[in-house]
Amino acid sequence: MAKIGLIGYGYWGRNLARNFQSNPAAVLARICDADPACLVRAEALQPGVRTTTRAEDLIEDASLDAIVLATPPATHFPLGMAALRAGKHLWVEKPIACTSEEAGLLVEEARRRKLVLMVDHTFVYAPVVRKIGELIRSGNLGSLYYYDSVRTNLGRFQSDVGVLWDLAYHDLAILDYLIDEQPSAVSAHGAAHWGTHDEVSYLSLTYPSGFHAHVHVSWLTPVKIRRVMLTGSKRMLLWDDLENTRKLEIYDHTIEPESGAGQLRINYRSGEIHSPWLDVSEPLQNAVSHFLECIETGAQPLTGGEAGLRVTRILERAQPVGNSQ
Ligand SMILES: NC(=O)c1ccc[n+]([C@@H]2O[C@H](COP(=O)([O-])OP(=O)(O)OC[C@H]3O[C@@H](n4cnc5c(N)ncnc54)[C@H](O)[C@@H]3O)[C@@H](O)[C@H]2O)c1
Repeated sequence: MAKIGLIGYGYWGRNLARNFQSNPAAVLARICDADPACLVRAEALQPGVRTTTRAEDLIEDASLDAIVLATPPATHFPLGMAALRAGKHLWVEKPIACTSEEAGLLVEEARRRKLVLMVDHTFVYAPVVRKIGELIRSGNLGSLYYYDSVRTNLGRFQSDVGVLWDLAYHDLAILDYLIDEQPSAVSAHGAAHWGTHDEVSYLSLTYPSGFHAHVHVSWLTPVKIRRVMLTGSKRMLLWDDLENTRKLEIYDHTIEPESGAGQLRINYRSGEIHSPWLDVSEPLQNAVSHFLECIETGAQPLTGGEAGLRVTRILERAQPVGNSQ
């Protein structure tokens, strides 16, 4: 059974604490947060877990097998590197680090020490993304044309990264899982209205096969939208993550050019719309179980440090116009 120390008990750290604590393969032994008010909450919600405001207390605790890092992005590299150097397996929240150089150093350190390094690409463990992966790999969608995502709401503003690194990161992690190629061209346009980081961004990716992805992310919209459309030559998908009963719809629609003499003619075919059954497991619980299995068996995580490194490389190529982040 892996003994876990959690650093960062903010919004996401509380979800991690709940999932590690309820997993029979783990013992959540210690929680650290620099803010004592967070620890008061931790002591109430996770009774019996020892708390501290000093991250070093957990990193130097020889009884812990793994550190789970849910602090702000700028702390991921220094705290993550210290945890690996202390011989701990590491779960690091997205983004793995704030530069690909730092991400590469974490990957190298984990590899050298034969430690598990997993980045929390939560959506990769979501039943809906697994289903989309199955549909792509079985050829059900045909050749992929494009992915279009809108991920907008009001806030939650991050202090050390912009919306591209915060929200578009999810799409890049999803694409890293779904698409077996890296983009050949990346561009982004963003705006920072009052902060130093982009609050709204539009990201475009072109892949060598001709596949395209377009991602619109914003912290400045009054309504929350989490919608992805994926168009293939045989079928089209609509994934609305805020939907409970029809999260994924598969449209049996195609558009085919008609060959023949003269001008281009298009055949539109509108077939059935089908919403597949999806298992209701919590993505974060699936991810936590996977991390614990990797510690137990020594297997490489599906979203290991290399996946985080690939995503940070794309984000670096996509620094939005007019933004310093
Ligand atoms: N995987 C996901 O879907 C998902 C969702 C939300 C957030 N996140 C990630 O989780 C991380 C945390 O985000 P959040 O929204 O929970 O932020 P948050 O600000 O709510 O929580 C961060 C916590 O870390 C603490 N902290 C900061 N520096 C520390 C240090 N040096 N030592 C100990 N504690 C420290 C803060 O006091 C705070 O309580 C970010 O990297 C974010 O991108 C991931």
